[in-house]
Amino acid sequence: MPTAQEQTTARIPQRVIWLALAGAVGGFLFGFDSSVVNGAVDAMKDEFALSEAVTGFAVAIALLGCAAGAYLAGKVADRYGRIPAMKLGALLFLVSALGTGFAFSVWDLIFWRLVGGLGIGLASVIAPAYISEISPRKIRGRLASLQQLAITTGIFAALLSDALFATSAGGADQAFWLGIEAWRWMFLAAALPAVVYGWVAYTLPESPRFLVFLGKEDEARKVFDAIAPTEDTDRHIRDIREAIEEDKLAGQKGSLRGKAFGLQAVVWVGIILSVLQQFVGINVIFYYSTTLWKAVGFQEKDSLTISVATSVTNILVTLVAIALVDRIGRRPILLAGSVGMAVSLGVMALAFASATGTGADITLPGAWGPVALVAANVFVISFGASWGPLVWVLLGEIFPSRIRARALGLAAAAQWVANFAITLSFPVMAAASLPLTYAMYALFAAASFFFVMFKVPETNGMSLEQAETLFVPKGSVKA
Ligand code: BGC
Repeated sequence: MPTAQEQTTARIPQRVIWLALAGAVGGFLFGFDSSVVNGAVDAMKDEFALSEAVTGFAVAIALLGCAAGAYLAGKVADRYGRIPAMKLGALLFLVSALGTGFAFSVWDLIFWRLVGGLGIGLASVIAPAYISEISPRKIRGRLASLQQLAITTGIFAALLSDALFATSAGGADQAFWLGIEAWRWMFLAAALPAVVYGWVAYTLPESPRFLVFLGKEDEARKVFDAIAPTEDTDRHIRDIREAIEEDKLAGQKGSLRGKAFGLQAVVWVGIILSVLQQFVGINVIFYYSTTLWKAVGFQEKDSLTISVATSVTNILVTLVAIALVDRIGRRPILLAGSVGMAVSLGVMALAFASATGTGADITLPGAWGPVALVAANVFVISFGASWGPLVWVLLGEIFPSRIRARALGLAAAAQWVANFAITLSFPVMAAASLPLTYAMYALFAAASFFFVMFKVPETNGMSLEQAETLFVPKGSVKA
């Protein structure tokens, strides 16, 4: 652990902040590409005369692409490096933006969305891995939280760009520049950040930890010296090398396998953190907010404005996490977030228990409307200041270097599958019982509290090599 003096005296090199920001461009594309479909979906449905089922499939298919992309990212990044994985991600984003924008039919559109999903999945793994690996430990939490800041900014930018195209053209289905419909421009717009991401990938140095893994210690030393001149580079490299050696001696040989149900315990911790982050139902708020806001008494036309406002809130609260994560640590923030989420979701369950009407025509009587509105916002704030950013921070720092990208890939793939399950099940569950649906999310939020309490050790202020020792002896996780 660094001394208090070390914490305060070391200067933060500008270069490392730039590298982390550049690495986080992948997060922006993650947010942008996963939300851009919102504004395009109705026009797309009309253009290709789609049924509800095919529309739902065209929207949700990207999430499965994300899961596959996350898994693939781990393999590519551990084998060829973090930068080649970023370049591949940028290419997939670009191809998908052009493909969806110029789609001929719903079938090629679905294919291009799958390709875009692969890119999102890749970016969701590479950004946290890269940022953690280049960050000095005392600011690693802050820099790794930039990933979430980028995701939330990407979500906001997509909603805004969708709204701008739709209003400028007079509707998402109306012709705009070059006679191409606005909904197509919404997808084409993603080509711009994709090109920026590709350019950034060409300018970034490879992760120094990956270089040590390849035995290229001189190159790793140069990168460490450039990004953190105040830290002891030799000690750093020695620690990384030793951690790699220990891993080899422990017979792990870079494998994810272990004694805990076939996997190393730390891999399970990553998977469970990921799944819980989705099982609290955050994306129900982002994907299905219209029904919620209408139930609370807003008109349909106001719901886009409210969604944009929610996405701004989501960006702002990420700043709270950035301010606190390296000061008070990961665990207190996660625990407080779990309490906030469990209580607010519990209140939403109560509010919807007194609802009248069904389906899209549901209303909340008396004070329950404003109560639900406040609770939904408290939920977004609690998530955005805690589990949103911190799960990505932890996924970047809990795994040993030798398996980091693959383990992160598996955990992120689990997160995308969990996201898919929640997204697909919400309409059915909501039709059966909204109070029970929210109560279930509240239970998962409560479970997330106990999981952190007993299974997630504090990693604040530690080097990545120190952090990985918290999860040995293998096969059991120490609290
Ligand atoms: C999650 C996304 C979610 C976003 C909302 C991210 O951390 O991975 O699924 O949409 O937060 O802010």
